[in-house]
Amino acid sequence: MNTNNSKILFEEAKKSIPGGVNSPVRAFQSVKKDYPIFIKSANGSKLYDEDGNEYLDMIGSWGPMILGHNYPEVLEIVKEEIENGTSFGLPTKKEVILAELVKECFPSIKKLRLTTSGTEAAMAAVRVARAYTGKNKIIKFEGCYHGHSDSLLVKAGSGLLTFEHQDSNGITKSVTQDTITAPFGDIEKIKEILGNEKDVACVIVEPIPANMGLIETEKEFLQQLRELTAKENVVLIFDEVITGFRVTLGGAQKLYGITPDLTILGKIIGGGYPVGGFGGKEEIMNLISPVGNVYHAGTLSGNPVSVAAGIKTISILKENPKIYEALEKRTKEIVEKVEKLIEKYDVPASINYANSLFTIFFSKEKVENLEDAIKTSDDFYSIYFDVMLENGIIVPPSKYEAHFISYIHSDEDYNKYFSALEKVFQKIKK
Ligand SMILES: Cc1ncc(COP(=O)(O)O)c(C=O)c1O
Repeated sequence: MNTNNSKILFEEAKKSIPGGVNSPVRAFQSVKKDYPIFIKSANGSKLYDEDGNEYLDMIGSWGPMILGHNYPEVLEIVKEEIENGTSFGLPTKKEVILAELVKECFPSIKKLRLTTSGTEAAMAAVRVARAYTGKNKIIKFEGCYHGHSDSLLVKAGSGLLTFEHQDSNGITKSVTQDTITAPFGDIEKIKEILGNEKDVACVIVEPIPANMGLIETEKEFLQQLRELTAKENVVLIFDEVITGFRVTLGGAQKLYGITPDLTILGKIIGGGYPVGGFGGKEEIMNLISPVGNVYHAGTLSGNPVSVAAGIKTISILKENPKIYEALEKRTKEIVEKVEKLIEKYDVPASINYANSLFTIFFSKEKVENLEDAIKTSDDFYSIYFDVMLENGIIVPPSKYEAHFISYIHSDEDYNKYFSALEKVFQKIKK
């Protein structure tokens, strides 16, 4: 496969963009590639690069593209919206429609604020939780990622882990001191922390973590987290930037039947355009300015193009429950097939999944938390990435990310993926 234009572009990019990319995982560095693929366009389940190569897309822009790229109805509404102007800095009717739609899907959300990214939404949710409780500290789980605001970049997953760091430089000690971390799934640790530390404002969690690879959550863990936080007057925040509108229309909270105090949204809520959101209990959300005195704002918050794409995407998902059924069925088929291939080739691998998300880990043992994920083989993951790329398939360029499939992926796409996976396992076996 000729990817020379990507190679040249990367050399150029490095002269003007740190590391040549605007988000670290895109550099393909952790899978030992010299340069990433530069994408020119996308359609349906496919990506096209600057050399004219076609790839099967197994990352779906890290989540938003649940309907595939350029889904006709979403594209149409965006074109229409652009004609009306692209940013006003004043309220619009569509923001109200989106907020009402989100409230219908997430009954725990009584009021919603839109942002431009998941990072901003998580940052603001923590701020309002602090204001509500009058307390300072936050608890997060090792390997969970909530964007790149200072207090949440402690033992964060995703791009940080990809480069073998768990924390970022440039964050003051006083900020990191207020962030307490615990292993995901370890409820005893949370009991211990909450028993000793009375200054905890919130616990923030990805209810199904997808930034240390995908981790399958026990309902009981979330249930106990809910009970403990309620007892201690600690705000429970579910970060559903990935799981919202993906694992079900109402996210992981609907799947598990657990009601958080605040929810963070992103990705699908903007249908592939820049967006984020946070919402929850009325008494907490009413602390936000101009009602209360917790500041949150944004020039592009509730941008009309993102909002129009979000309304259309969520409406399609809402009107067609068969989409979730199909995605769930498909993911189960993938898991079955992958497990059969693991057995056939006797390779040290396992697969974790949740509706339309999965991660193949190169270790025989089930991966249940960050420690397990770190122990899985980097070398085998790089072989996996390499062989997939050679066969025209883009999988996550890091063992710490999840695969995201879309409604538009076809039998032909999956057959292509499975036949490449056989080649991966054959190479690993050698
Ligand atoms: C669970 C989770 N929360 C927050 C974020 C941050 O969202 P954004 O990249 O839109 O800032 C991400 C990004 O991948 C995420 O996966």
